[in-house]
Amino acid sequence: MHYGVSAAHGGKTQSYCLVTSCKGGVGKSTATANLAMSLATLGKRVLVVDCDFSNRSLDLIFGCEDKVLFDVCDLVMGRATPAQAILIDPRNAALGFIPAPLIKRDSFTPEEFSDAVIKAAEHFCADIVMIDTPGTSDDTLTLVANVANCALIVASHQPTSVRGAEKTGYVLEELGVKQQFLLINRYDSDEVLAGNRPGLNELIDKTHIPLIGVIPESRRLELAQEKGRLASELRRDKEGARAAFDETARRLCNERVPLMSYVSEKKRRKLLYT
Ligand SMILES: Nc1ncnc2c1ncn2[C@@H]1O[C@H](COP(=O)(O)OP(=O)(O)OP(=O)(O)O)[C@@H](O)[C@H]1O
Ligand SMILES: [Mg+2]
Repeated sequence: MHYGVSAAHGGKTQSYCLVTSCKGGVGKSTATANLAMSLATLGKRVLVVDCDFSNRSLDLIFGCEDKVLFDVCDLVMGRATPAQAILIDPRNAALGFIPAPLIKRDSFTPEEFSDAVIKAAEHFCADIVMIDTPGTSDDTLTLVANVANCALIVASHQPTSVRGAEKTGYVLEELGVKQQFLLINRYDSDEVLAGNRPGLNELIDKTHIPLIGVIPESRRLELAQEKGRLASELRRDKEGARAAFDETARRLCNERVPLMSYVSEKKRRKLLYT
């Protein structure tokens, strides 16, 4: 695998999207990486910035840990140019990635962060910037929300998680990020149909945040991820993870795509009306 450095471009970035959640471990980094690849496959130029300063993981998820020379702090502090900081994905050159520091972050202001990320996005000619954030309640959200104009709030399909997403939505609103979408991850349709988990309608009723996608629980995705592979590389997609990310990416691009189009019509109807 070859991770290159980016070439210079010019142009305006339209969307700076935070990927966040109220709890750790719900799948923010998984969603960031896989949605970024789906968006790139749709023809968007996507720049992913890992802002999990205490627990960098996206380099592993993208499978490029041994290619990292510079990180987002190097970019903000002027130790690296955008061309040096952005790693180009060998699977799709429209996907660029700036890793988080491995050990500790420098101290900088929200304005310094915004300036650096906007400069990098314009250099890469990104249509969309996706900013992965930590699950811990440190000050990262306040630091990085300054540049964001939308947010993807990731939750599992437990009522407590959806309620937490609602709370995160209020925090983001106070930080000025008003356009928000809810992404339900690790959706276990068999448990829903068995009556052990709430259905989508029940979850939608618990929140005012519009639902943008439902990603299934997928053992294949989890195993692939451990090898630095994305859902787009799954040879068989029986569990629907690849299709779910593609479908969600289309919806993020304002296409009208039915929810969970990757399950059979009969099952889908049951799931939507459960
Ligand atoms: N849809 C899914 N199906 C199966 N496993 C998943 C799914 N989504 C995420 N996982 C697994 O859950 C674990 C946590 O995912 P991830 O690191 O993306 O969460 P996170 O919200 O970024 O965590 P943190 O808060 O620590 O940053 C990983 O092992 C990942 O492979
Ligand atoms: Mg993470």
